[in-house]
Amino acid sequence: MDQFSQSVLTLVSILVVISTIFYFKFQSKSSSKLPPGPWGVPILGYLPFIGSDMNKLSQLASKYGQIYKLQLGNKLCVVVNSPALVKEVVRDHDIVFANRSVPVAAFVATYGAKDIVWSANNPEWRALRKVFVREMMSNRSLEQTYSLRKNEVRKSIRQIYENGKTAVEISMLAFQTEINVITKLLWGGLLRGADEEVIGNKFREILPKVIDVFGKPNISDYYPFLARFDIQGIKRETERYMVHLDKIVIEVVESYKKKFSRGVVEEGKRDFLQILFELKADDEDLITDTQLKALLLDIVAAATDTSTTSIEWAMAELINSPTAMAKAQKELSEVVGLDNIVEEHHLPKLKYLDAVFKETLRLHPVVPFLMPRSTSESSIVGGYTIPKGTMVFINLPYIQKDPRFWNSPQEFKPERFLGTEFDFTGNSFHYLPFGSGRRMCAGLPLAERMLMYFLASLLHSFDWKSPNDQKLDMSEAFGIMLRKSVPLAAIPIPRLSGSNLYT
Ligand code: HEM
Repeated sequence: MDQFSQSVLTLVSILVVISTIFYFKFQSKSSSKLPPGPWGVPILGYLPFIGSDMNKLSQLASKYGQIYKLQLGNKLCVVVNSPALVKEVVRDHDIVFANRSVPVAAFVATYGAKDIVWSANNPEWRALRKVFVREMMSNRSLEQTYSLRKNEVRKSIRQIYENGKTAVEISMLAFQTEINVITKLLWGGLLRGADEEVIGNKFREILPKVIDVFGKPNISDYYPFLARFDIQGIKRETERYMVHLDKIVIEVVESYKKKFSRGVVEEGKRDFLQILFELKADDEDLITDTQLKALLLDIVAAATDTSTTSIEWAMAELINSPTAMAKAQKELSEVVGLDNIVEEHHLPKLKYLDAVFKETLRLHPVVPFLMPRSTSESSIVGGYTIPKGTMVFINLPYIQKDPRFWNSPQEFKPERFLGTEFDFTGNSFHYLPFGSGRRMCAGLPLAERMLMYFLASLLHSFDWKSPNDQKLDMSEAFGIMLRKSVPLAAIPIPRLSGSNLYT
């Protein structure tokens, strides 16, 4: 053993002894007030039993009920499993639970939590979120950018049609469509065909890996004093991905700066980056260059993987449920007509499809525990103490399938949402796939429109079947995202009355 390894070993041993003393001291002082939870082993707590399978985290609710705690290394983690206690967290004590618990990987990928998703609840976060929501998510702005979404969706429909009856890998198709929409909304004024493809491919290759790395159990997150050793190499792995992402975003920002300094403003092409530069010109302190990069990457990351995964689950459920597929297509035939293409103005009339979308996100909440919150001060939930700095998960897979609130909860039954008041605003505490409270999804208005529009276009333009006509494997891969373990490939069969409807 070399001298360096020996010193690391000695240091780790000393720190482990110190943390053991603290662990037991802490346990004996405050465990009576803390929520119940499974026993772990000394020092590691419950960490060895969770591993990388977040599904285990969800399932412990059947044993411990409304709320439970887990000691994961040095970190206290609380999982909330009932609507009544969700309300306490996201409504009654919203402000206390409005920080994020930021894994080392996310810290690296966001230039030190300078973005919207991972930032603490502070004035910079409020300013960024406000600008994003006001400038990109307002009704007016979304109306103005409809043609951009339409072009991308039509391009994808055309591509499917031209490829004939070859199986389509749905997540690839959805990712490509979504990334083109998002990058055009953000910096479309800069993009030309080839650049767009290069950027799209790079993002497709790297983004899901970066997002998955956020959910990987990392010793550094549970023992911050060991973070400097990066024992599993997760920090270094994230830094490697970031070299590529940072390069893309720097190129974009620099090209924009040049364009902006020349005063080139193309009519009708006022995208989000241009708006940010205009705001920056008025108030230099509003947003720093680092925040700008973090914000752009944040939106690309937050929008693409979530949307792609939702579309894949919706298509898989419909292919597995021919009755629901037939109902959704019948509604499209009636509202849109087989001699016409779907437009966004049809969406409010597509009640059954809306129910399909809601039921998909009930069964498969793509961000299963919401983004982990962290308490800014000690608080009481369900009569239990939640100390300052606790990592808090909201257990959607459990709550959204709890038989006390949902009949036949494991079944895909869109009808359960017809004629109900459920929406995505997070006001029903047993249905909140986009979160709730001040940290709820900031991209909801776009997500709702874009996903409904894309799904409607896929289902109206084609019949879909599984390649071998067998039931699809619906197993889930749990992490920070809830993905489909086996990617969906499906065969499209055109159903519209003329080939001109596919151009
Ligand atoms: C099906 C699609 C989507 C789902 C299911 C989804 C879900 C979520 C969830 C559960 C959160 C955390 C909420 C919480 O902690 O309470 C979140 C946060 C966020 N989402 Fe989405 N999202 C989707 C699409 C999008 C899109 C399209 C965008 C941007 C265009 C976006 C931008 C964001 C941002 C910026 C945040 C962080 C908000 C904050 O911390 O203040 N999301 N999303």
